[in-house]
Amino acid sequence: MTNQTWMVTGTSSGFGKELALQLAQKTGIQLIATARKESDLDYLDQYDHGQIKKILVDVAKSKEIQRAVQEALAFTEQVDVLVNNAGLGYFSTIEESNMATVRYMFEVNVFGLAEMTKALLPQFRQHRSGTIVNISSALALTTLPTMGFYSATKYAVEGYSDTLRKELAPLGIHVLTVEPSGARTNWAGSSSQKELPQITDYANFQQMVETMDEGVTKSPGNPKLIAKAIIEAVENPDTPDHLPLGNFAYKGSLENLRGLTREIEHYKDISLSTDD
Ligand SMILES: NC(=O)c1ccc[n+]([C@@H]2O[C@H](COP(=O)([O-])OP(=O)(O)OC[C@H]3O[C@@H](n4cnc5c(N)ncnc54)[C@H](OP(=O)(O)O)[C@@H]3O)[C@@H](O)[C@H]2O)c1
Repeated sequence: MTNQTWMVTGTSSGFGKELALQLAQKTGIQLIATARKESDLDYLDQYDHGQIKKILVDVAKSKEIQRAVQEALAFTEQVDVLVNNAGLGYFSTIEESNMATVRYMFEVNVFGLAEMTKALLPQFRQHRSGTIVNISSALALTTLPTMGFYSATKYAVEGYSDTLRKELAPLGIHVLTVEPSGARTNWAGSSSQKELPQITDYANFQQMVETMDEGVTKSPGNPKLIAKAIIEAVENPDTPDHLPLGNFAYKGSLENLRGLTREIEHYKDISLSTDD
């Protein structure tokens, strides 16, 4: 694939940084790398021969998104691939979650992604081509206690993306959701807040919240391989709609779907009883 421009959010660390590193070293690729702090993108300087544009944007701020997209379209005629990667986590039982923290996570994981996409959609439609990659999570295909509101943000990303795909497919624009399993990034550490259970009824989840950071840090998910798989999926002429990555995402999603299918079949008579 030649002369493609990729724009990736959240390239200061983790998947976004790995994507930026790999894209910066590929021929025929222009890269627009976004982050919140300029110095977080210094690592790109050694690969820059004019094909890289750094843009500062906090995806929780609408004005910054508008400005970032203007800057991007001043740098390139066309953004071919938008990767909505910026995101954060929150570990808490649902009852004990702080709603301000939950709302902020929705701002970043859902509304930031949606606003960035909305701002770039006119140019995608104009060119009748392109791919929008939304980084979702294995936790949008299955769920775990203490990650409920995080899952809720990523399930929202899935519903949004599945609909967007149907609206954009006739225009030649593809939407890919990526559902990575736990991977060794800053996500469970500096990019997540945690509330240890205080209610005795939830005491059995204490250890889960306490060790989440360590567990994810030691997980088999390799951000380099995840970035490579995302690039390959986008470059594949047969780009998938969904890309579950890692064993947990693969097995967890199939188990969840099989369970859901069994349940729907089991209660089929009730389901079909409500149409007259
Ligand atoms: N690692 C996993 O286990 C895992 C699994 C499934 C899905 N994911 C998803 O993968 C995506 C990337 O996360 P990661 O694992 O690579 O974690 P990470 O290393 O913590 O990277 C998260 C990125 O998001 C950026 N970000 C956070 N809030 C932002 C905001 N308001 N505006 C702009 N950028 C913001 C961070 O920037 P700063 O450095 O400025 O904070 C950072 O660049 C997220 O959407 C996450 O939910 C992660």
